[in-house]
Amino acid sequence: MADQLLSTGPPRRTLPESYVRPESERPRLAEVESDTNIPVIDLGADNESHIISQIGAACQSYGFFQIVNHGMAIGLMDDMVEITREFFSLPPEEKAKLYSDDPAKKIRLSTSFNIRKEKVHNWRDYLRLHCYPLEDFVPGWPSKPPSFREVVSSYCREVRHLGFKILGLISLSLGLEKDYIEKVLGEQEQHMAINYYPQCPEPELTYGLPAHTDPNAVTILLQDQKVAGLQVQRDGKWIRVDPHPNAFVINLGDQIQALSNGRYKSVWHRAIVNSDKERISVASFLCPCNSAAISPAKKLTGEGSPAVYRSYTYDEYYKKFWSSNLDQDHCLELFK
Ligand code: SIN
Ligand code: FE2
Repeated sequence: MADQLLSTGPPRRTLPESYVRPESERPRLAEVESDTNIPVIDLGADNESHIISQIGAACQSYGFFQIVNHGMAIGLMDDMVEITREFFSLPPEEKAKLYSDDPAKKIRLSTSFNIRKEKVHNWRDYLRLHCYPLEDFVPGWPSKPPSFREVVSSYCREVRHLGFKILGLISLSLGLEKDYIEKVLGEQEQHMAINYYPQCPEPELTYGLPAHTDPNAVTILLQDQKVAGLQVQRDGKWIRVDPHPNAFVINLGDQIQALSNGRYKSVWHRAIVNSDKERISVASFLCPCNSAAISPAKKLTGEGSPAVYRSYTYDEYYKKFWSSNLDQDHCLELFK
């Protein structure tokens, strides 16, 4: 129901019971570390083989990295964040028109993660959009704020281009043909989650998004430049990924872990919330086409490194992912 949206109505003074995590599942924010070694890769550098080796090292050790000089205009990144802020400040009746808690819908405004199924909710509202091919979806996108469709479609076009560039670099870093991953994934779908995390009265007790891995191939995340919230697990510890000026965060999804035969990791990450500031993030997902047959690349398997995962279609994977809870075991475990 649309009245479950957090961005509608006055700020809450206490956290409603349905958002409170049991003691053992809380974020323990005091224990979170900041890691200044998180890779920031300059895609504008001249030496491509150096970029490829940096990407390979980051994928292997962290499963995520940030990129700068990525080719997207900084003005467009700023516009995307601003349009998000304006969208979530629309009047409740405007937002109610777009509300749905059916994950199968291709354009929907919702809250938490999968509010129909989960026991404890998350402190997040989000607009989820399918974005490829754009002409199929843009006519159904929100018509307010007035420049929404224009800004978001320009953003999506550029993100797709950037996503393919990254997949090419990841392929090369694995010693595969540049277009290997692109070919396996087929005519990729593109989705986005435009996230709005309101100020939260008790951030120690809940999450914006609890720990999860992304089910798709690669995620390109635009973070709020002023408010941190993304955390990534490394060696069993949670570390903060503080916003780096004008950077995108690149996050490997489960399909890259499978294709790389486990060499590259789809990392656990989570979003925490803030008592005095709202936070915005925009996650763009490149997703294999439903019929894509995923299995570890032949070149990466053989004597001494048998295939860790069986072959499956993305359709099979995606259904399993949505039928599980976000923070259960790694979904790939089911495909061994
Ligand atoms: C996500 O994991 O999709 C979003 C994380 C964030 O808001 O930083
Ligand atoms: Fe994610």
